[in-house]
Amino acid sequence: MDQLDQLDELLSCRLDYGRKTVEPCSIVIFGASGDLTARKLIPALFHLFCEKQLPNPFRIIGFARREKSDASWREELKEDLQKFSRTKSVDAAQWEAFAANVFYCEGEFSDLNAYKKLETQLESFGHESLRRNLLFYLSTSPSQFAEVVEHLHKASLLHREEGKKFWQRVVVEKPFGHDLISAQQLNAELTRFAFEKQIYRIDHYLGKETVQNILMFRFSNAIFEQLWNRQCIEQVQITVSEKLGVGGRGGYYEEAGALRDMVQNHLLQILALVAMEPPVSLEAESIRDEKVKLLKSIRPLDASQVANNVVRGQYGVGEIDGQARVAYRQEIKVRPDSNTETFVAMRTLIDNWRWSGVPFYLRTGKGLPMSASEVRIQFRPTPNVLFAAQCGTNLDSNAITLRLQPNEGIFLRFNGKVPGTSLEIRPVRMHFDYNAEFGAYTPEAYERLLLEVLAGDATLFIRRDEVETAWSIVDPIRQAWEKIPLSESEIYSSGTWGPVAADELLAQRSHAWRKPHPVT
Ligand code: BG6
Repeated sequence: MDQLDQLDELLSCRLDYGRKTVEPCSIVIFGASGDLTARKLIPALFHLFCEKQLPNPFRIIGFARREKSDASWREELKEDLQKFSRTKSVDAAQWEAFAANVFYCEGEFSDLNAYKKLETQLESFGHESLRRNLLFYLSTSPSQFAEVVEHLHKASLLHREEGKKFWQRVVVEKPFGHDLISAQQLNAELTRFAFEKQIYRIDHYLGKETVQNILMFRFSNAIFEQLWNRQCIEQVQITVSEKLGVGGRGGYYEEAGALRDMVQNHLLQILALVAMEPPVSLEAESIRDEKVKLLKSIRPLDASQVANNVVRGQYGVGEIDGQARVAYRQEIKVRPDSNTETFVAMRTLIDNWRWSGVPFYLRTGKGLPMSASEVRIQFRPTPNVLFAAQCGTNLDSNAITLRLQPNEGIFLRFNGKVPGTSLEIRPVRMHFDYNAEFGAYTPEAYERLLLEVLAGDATLFIRRDEVETAWSIVDPIRQAWEKIPLSESEIYSSGTWGPVAADELLAQRSHAWRKPHPVT
């Protein structure tokens, strides 16, 4: 480390010293035999344990239908951890120490007796905090959320109370409903048995370092925020592209589609963070208030405006990285005449003083040429004098790119003179690279999110009005599409950037999609 780096480290400022400590508690995972538990939750909890971030003592109980013993579940989890851990090898002694706190409770979600069994198991832990500080993680289908919380309440495990000595919190996974009405119903059902403050709705994008950094980038630097408005910015492009197809998730995806799976949550969350006003404080409610305000400023589309502002597509056969790819309609559990979209591109306008008239283009899809998530802030061109007068459209406009994943970083693109005796200008880049600056360590989103729930901090979770506002933005789009089957021109070859109409959408305003930076 050179001298300059050492000085920079001295300047770092920690904001979470006063943060609530994590208290001893039990974590109960409903739907414990599912993929999420093996791939994400247990690895995240294990890494938190290794880093001594979990409370002492703690217990984890997996609640699911399949017949298993504590020992056989631990064995399964160990094997899965070896596959999914972000560290290459799993320390055997650490695993044994962790696994001693892991238990299994077999039961049907609909059977009240199973919850009594759970209660007995919690009682057997002895320590009062392990019995009464309870985190319920609902990794089940949303149709089971209401039933589970109702039974937890009936078994006296979940109380609707605040400010008492002990706490109970409920974490729910997406999808949170499938439209505004179902989300409202779900909210009403959950809040019968728990206060809103006890409910933590997950959007795993908010656990990503680079997504969290959007607020720091905007509000801890004077130079960028001055430019963050309609006077300086011409358009914003948010791309979340994936090479993968739907794989084994065809059944789920048929009901979801890209609009519900990605736009309603991840893309609108990124948009809210990029475009919101500064919050009055760093408290969870202040930040969430601003996000909701922003989402409410998005111009609603009625059915007649959808075709002009939103493009959908579905991947057909094609090739990615030299490998032949099947069409979406050939995937397992997908209807051969499916109308489900695997690609969405849309133009969003935000009706407020800061952003009036600036298009925010959102794009997401599966079966695309590259897996990359980034936000590109495209600045207005220079006045048409001096260099611009001579170069015309060849003079590139400035841009800031927030690269969310992979190759996490931030690029500033501007023009510079090509060295030499001729007079030549071309775009150059200033590049902040997370790995180069901080080393390759980035915790998984779930580690951060689980720790926040344990600490009782809701900043990185979606509030009730936020999830409902997001549904009200996408619902009219879904309704407009439902009436019209996908046309031939909406099927794109796997390995391309979606239907031609996605380019035409931008061309209407003389804009063009910028390809994400190549993955290195
Ligand atoms: C999930 C979607 O929420 O996010 C998936 O259900 C998608 O379809 C995934 O692949 C993308 O997440 P990430 O973290 O890999 O960008």
